[in-house]
Amino acid sequence: MRIAVVGSGYVGLVAGTCFADLGHEVILVDNDQRKLDALRRGEVPIHEKFLPELLGRHRGQRLQFSGDLKEAVRLSAVIFVAVGTPPTESGEADLSYVESVAREISGGLDSFKVIVEKSTVPVYTSDWIRRIILRNGTDPELFEVASNPEFLREGTAVTDFLFPDRILVGCDNPRAAEILREIYAPLTNGTYYQRTDAIPQPDRAVLPAPIIVTSTKSAELIKHASNAFLAMKISFINAVAQVCEAVGADVNQVVHGIGTDSRIGPRFLNPGIGYGGSCFPKDIMAFRSVAREYGYDFNLLDEVMRINEDQRRRFLRKVHTALWTLRGKRLGVLGLAFKGGTDDIRESPALAIVQALLQEGSKITAYDPAAMDRAREVLSNGITYATSSYEAAHDADALLILTEWEEFANLDLNRLRRELKYPIVVDGRNLYDPEAMAAQGFTYYSVGRSASHPDGVPAAVLKNGKKA
Ligand SMILES: NC(=O)c1ccc[n+]([C@@H]2O[C@H](COP(=O)([O-])OP(=O)(O)OC[C@H]3O[C@@H](n4cnc5c(N)ncnc54)[C@H](O)[C@@H]3O)[C@@H](O)[C@H]2O)c1
Repeated sequence: MRIAVVGSGYVGLVAGTCFADLGHEVILVDNDQRKLDALRRGEVPIHEKFLPELLGRHRGQRLQFSGDLKEAVRLSAVIFVAVGTPPTESGEADLSYVESVAREISGGLDSFKVIVEKSTVPVYTSDWIRRIILRNGTDPELFEVASNPEFLREGTAVTDFLFPDRILVGCDNPRAAEILREIYAPLTNGTYYQRTDAIPQPDRAVLPAPIIVTSTKSAELIKHASNAFLAMKISFINAVAQVCEAVGADVNQVVHGIGTDSRIGPRFLNPGIGYGGSCFPKDIMAFRSVAREYGYDFNLLDEVMRINEDQRRRFLRKVHTALWTLRGKRLGVLGLAFKGGTDDIRESPALAIVQALLQEGSKITAYDPAAMDRAREVLSNGITYATSSYEAAHDADALLILTEWEEFANLDLNRLRRELKYPIVVDGRNLYDPEAMAAQGFTYYSVGRSASHPDGVPAAVLKNGKKA
């Protein structure tokens, strides 16, 4: 199948590269010339596991890069639209990028093509895309609009794309549905998984990949409802974590008890500093807006957002509890990305916390395995960047863990204690066991669990794990 993917960001680049790996001829289109040049030079603009291998395999062969959308449309049977849908000031999805792409696509429709929404968009967007294309004089027989929402997660995007829980196709026309089925056939008939060069199968893979076909509107709504539900799960457990702290219970034990109920499941029940990223915050707001527009006040989502905001404030209060005043204090920070495994800092709670600490006059030394270059572009003075966790911890009054990178969960605690000025760790991701940390000489604060102190002695009188 000849496919054009419009937008070569986190979603478009991964989707286009994976389509090439499934055997399709793909043109990746972007209007960012610098990005196109970098891709053509062989650079990989985002940090994503397996992406460099797959790009290396297909670049210049089944995968081409182009800035000419009309030409790409002419050469393709299916056009996936994967441009950004950022929030407007009022919280709605800004669909102006989608609209401008739809307008341009109409100029290249010279034979029947399927236009597929890959971006996350509010219900009714497919109607608008259709209207815009018709308004530009296109014959209605020459195109169909379908929805194929993307459920990949940054950090595991390639694996998620190739081993999805389900493929969702929203179509109001059998011809378009058939074409989309054909595109995904190697995943749904399992032939991709028999290949010796297939990306390694993750735990919990459902094989072959199930495909769900719904109406276009249902598909659009499923994506928003899924993200809202996941965000709600995170806020729910964060609220439970607050109660745990208040009564002296352990949220990890509570999560284990809740999550083993097969009706609930353990995933997305990780208490912490709240969700972030380019999807959940904007999608919850957009879902809230679209519901209101159609007469339903989705107040539950307001509460999900409020709890999420509150998590950051609570974390900052913990840093104060640990250190009293912050002006002039040196803080080691582990993690700037919005979650582990990615370089994406969009709406990162870690970054928001760092900004608040800088405003209070703290001096920060931060380390993130992938996100420091992007962070440098947005963070102001007062922050230096380290090349390792231990360098970030060196001579710091406390260490803060803000992103759940795997390497942060496996630190050499003896070395860490020696590096720190005071052995204090404030962990926003619950990567360590409070008792084990106390046994290692740390005063340790986490989320939804009581703070632990070595010998029960407050942190201020301890230096390098010993009484001062
Ligand atoms: N990032 C995720 O994890 C994720 C997951 C699922 C769904 N989504 C959704 O997918 C969509 C894209 O997200 P993203 O994270 O890939 O965004 P992104 O900002 O990383 O990428 C968007 C790309 O589109 C390009 N673009 C914008 N206007 C264009 C135009 N007129 N012509 C050609 N290219 C154009 C931009 O230059 C950019 O490269 C959003 O709707 C998002 O909500 C994202």
